[in-house]
Amino acid sequence: LKYRYRTIRYMEDLRLDNLPGVGPVTTKKLSDAGIHNIMDLIVRGPVELAEITGMDKDTASNIVEKARQALVEGGLLAKDFVSATEVYKRRQEIGKITTGTECLDLLLDGGLETQGLTEVYGEFGSGKTQFCHTMCVTVQKPKEEGGLDGTVLYIDTENTFRPERIVSIAKAHGMDPEKALDRIMVARAYNSAHQTLILEEASHMIQENNIKLLVVDSAVGLFRAEYLGRGTLSVRQQRLNKFVHLLVRIAETYNCAALATNQVMASPDVFFGDPTRPIGGNVVAHTSTYRIYFKKSGKKRIARMVDSPHHPEQEVIFGLGEAGVIDPDSETKKKSTKTAKSSKVESVKPEVKVESKSDSSVDVDSKTEDIPEDSE
Ligand code: GTP
Ligand code: MG
Repeated sequence: LKYRYRTIRYMEDLRLDNLPGVGPVTTKKLSDAGIHNIMDLIVRGPVELAEITGMDKDTASNIVEKARQALVEGGLLAKDFVSATEVYKRRQEIGKITTGTECLDLLLDGGLETQGLTEVYGEFGSGKTQFCHTMCVTVQKPKEEGGLDGTVLYIDTENTFRPERIVSIAKAHGMDPEKALDRIMVARAYNSAHQTLILEEASHMIQENNIKLLVVDSAVGLFRAEYLGRGTLSVRQQRLNKFVHLLVRIAETYNCAALATNQVMASPDVFFGDPTRPIGGNVVAHTSTYRIYFKKSGKKRIARMVDSPHHPEQEVIFGLGEAGVIDPDSETKKKSTKTAKSSKVESVKPEVKVESKSDSSVDVDSKTEDIPEDSE
């Protein structure tokens, strides 16, 4: 293989015709189907590739396998069997995006992770959309300030994206609001198929535009609205799974953070299964997905990390304000950090509640992995 002794660094290296056996005809066929580079092949996978190009399954598997090898050898994708050192190295590349608050950064152990999908679920008004807006701004901060100096793709399914909020959040963070708006691309999705299509089309823009955050607010709403009733639940789950897997694969392949919201009512229907199980087959080795539960508590909000393989299960209290998500009592906090600025964790400790069975405020323990049949 051409890639054996070199590292893929440029888009040029990702050209489809760099793959052995892929000539102009196949390249044309692939790009007609919306596949423009080697990364796209990985993101779609063999089954979908066969479906959209009309290739037979063996040919499709063959091409995807070659793409996988090229990326592995170029150092862009983890191998199927890797040493702990290599896993460690890939994980070292995980970026973290600050939430702009001490409390939520503590919950997330530094911030929203790249190479992974974070699902925020909670009832209406719990602050999911405000959180998304805030992350759109903080991801643009320079690395020294906890951002990734990146841009955003925002898939808006409920028509709740508000540029005015971006302006006020950016101002509150001392950033240029115009620039902040300029670095967010918003796509309005009108139905669930369109939502999936946007994501499929998006994958090739990600690298060119240095997109470091992919937001889908809400990820589930359109699916829920379109597939009503018991008979359609499994179809809905299947389509939703496809969408979620695509999101995870994009996040892992392009080292960007995916953030998806999910409104829940009485019975939370979180939309993916066991977070410790790799999703996406053998191409994607270290799927990481996090779930955060948001809950209203008077004027304050509670966020809880649920079922994370890497984070302790804990809760923090946060607020909503001009700056988006904010630390509770930001004023008193400023004073307390002045007196104890050497110890960041110390100053937020009082807001961290250790998980306790007697805590009745957040009822997520009884949730099920799949959508219960009677949830509609
Ligand atoms: P659904 O999408 O309906 O499920 O809700 P959500 O979880 O997305 O809630 P959202 O993030 O829209 O939160 C709405 C709440 O944010 C409102 O009830 C307000 O309390 C708060 N909020 C929104 N905008 C502002 C603002 O400009 N300033 C302040 N202080 N609070 C705001
Ligand atoms: Mg919302």
